[in-house]
Amino acid sequence: MDKVTASAPGKIILFGEHSVVYGKPAIAASIDTRTFIEAERLEEDRIKIEANDIKVPGLTLSFKEDQIFMEADYGKAAEILGYVKKAVDLVLKETDVDTGISLSISSDIPVGAGLGSSAAVANATIASVSELLGINLTNREIGELGHETELSVQGNSSGIDPMVQAIGGLIYYKDGNFKQIPFRKLPIVLGYTGSKGNTGKLVEEVKKRLEEDPEVMEPIVKSMGNLVDQSRESLEGKFDSEKLGRLMNINHGLLSALGVSTKELSDLVYATRTAGALGSKLTGAGGGGCMYAYCPGRCDEVSTAIEVAGGTPISTKIAKEGVRIEKRE
Ligand code: MEV
Repeated sequence: MDKVTASAPGKIILFGEHSVVYGKPAIAASIDTRTFIEAERLEEDRIKIEANDIKVPGLTLSFKEDQIFMEADYGKAAEILGYVKKAVDLVLKETDVDTGISLSISSDIPVGAGLGSSAAVANATIASVSELLGINLTNREIGELGHETELSVQGNSSGIDPMVQAIGGLIYYKDGNFKQIPFRKLPIVLGYTGSKGNTGKLVEEVKKRLEEDPEVMEPIVKSMGNLVDQSRESLEGKFDSEKLGRLMNINHGLLSALGVSTKELSDLVYATRTAGALGSKLTGAGGGGCMYAYCPGRCDEVSTAIEVAGGTPISTKIAKEGVRIEKRE
């Protein structure tokens, strides 16, 4: 095999971002917006990465041992490439095969929107390079290596993003373990603020707030964990859409109390509730990025409300499939 293309979906955290870093559960879903990576053997002994369309200006970068050759530097794109480099290193550690590799990335997941662009790039890199080199990895193992990539590049990480994006569907995640929740088509619309949150920095800030005021902040994190378990009951047992919506609203309030919401995010959250969403909250690390609204029967009105409030509506669906191989040549 000389060439392999793999893809990985993005994700939204339905409930429990940030508190999941402190051993509380969270519920996440893969979404139908994907990153594609084509990996090809290269005669020359180096790793070459082409970022053709990653929803930021493109750039080409190559590296060999500790040397990085950058032909242009476009901030956000360079950040994503750190994940690619680490992911390639982790796969190469699993084999004695000595070869250069050329990687070509294209992605429909906006970078920094809280939709898992970094984990998607890491997972799709791991899947394409391992397949190219004849290393058999399960989707779970891809998610674990994706987590290792995140830990090394961004510091603190619960691993929920790479795991749900590797497995697909809906998962309940706690302390590195997960359970798939039966698939449900939840009618949601995403609202993108257009600004970018830095996950590593936001996770650090929350840690600092917990250390400064543990008596006030720890009950908030605990309450977030409790609401995730209640949400799981509403999803798995007798489906209760009203309760699910209420829990989303509470989760947004608690995330604001942790200090990770912004005016732009909360503007979109309140506008969508006024337009008839049953519930809405920021999703992912916050500090910008995206919110989602759960809007059975009201998704058109909710999309318009997001636009009027200054955001960009993104229609998406919960995706059943996680990482997959698209093409072998
Ligand atoms: C980011 O999508 C979710 C956070 O909880 C970080 C993590 O779990 O690694 C903010």
